[in-house]
Amino acid sequence: MEQVWCKVDEYITDKLIPTDDVLEQALSKNKQAGLPEIDVSPAQGKMLYLLAKTKGARRILEIGTLGGYSTIWLARALEEDGELITLEAVSQHVEIAQQNINRAGLAERVTILQGKALDTLPQLKERDTLPFDLIFIDADKPNNPNYLKWALDFSKKGTVIIADNVVRNGSVIHAADQDERVKGTREFFDLLKQEPRIEATAIQTVGEKGYDGFVYGIVK
Ligand SMILES: C[S@@+](CC[C@H](N)C(=O)[O-])C[C@H]1O[C@@H](n2cnc3c(N)ncnc32)[C@H](O)[C@@H]1O
Repeated sequence: MEQVWCKVDEYITDKLIPTDDVLEQALSKNKQAGLPEIDVSPAQGKMLYLLAKTKGARRILEIGTLGGYSTIWLARALEEDGELITLEAVSQHVEIAQQNINRAGLAERVTILQGKALDTLPQLKERDTLPFDLIFIDADKPNNPNYLKWALDFSKKGTVIIADNVVRNGSVIHAADQDERVKGTREFFDLLKQEPRIEATAIQTVGEKGYDGFVYGIVK
């Protein structure tokens, strides 16, 4: 089936996502630099862009930058005076992402904070960017429950919280799975279930990135 998913992704991209030198160059620069190819797909990137546009987002927080591919999609959706802050632990990723963001002409709207997100998140309290309109969680999965707690603290009524890779090829349903990423994802779902401040759902996805899924939630 994976071959069909990939072909359908190609079809969707061909029909709905115009050729875009900046985004394509970002992916090829990431590859040249040896970054893992774990960015969102073009169709998913456009979905994030459209969701941010629907929200009319002025302030976006991204946890997990990699080479800035999803960052560019999201930042392009910002309202005119908008700002995006993205958090990344690995200095090489920050360097490549900054170059990609500069090439995209988004340097003025995007700030990359380097460091482990659990260290940089508290720094956001000192900035005047709170609360965020949209928060995209896409970093180390064992910390997803912690990121959700921070995201809720940095939200207001109507803030959209999105998290990637919440299905993990189906392993999310295996309670005995010892993979820390699966455990973190399951704890993330448990927290979403018990947390009164958010209403959420998850959608399974297939395509060039395999079988996975997104959580989509809105803060009450
Ligand atoms: C899945 S990739 C992000 C993909 C990116 N959002 C995209 O779609 O283009 C996850 C990123 O999170 C970063 N990361 C991992 N642990 C982190 C942490 N504790 N704090 C911040 N970033 C972290 C990784 O270095 C990696 O670049």
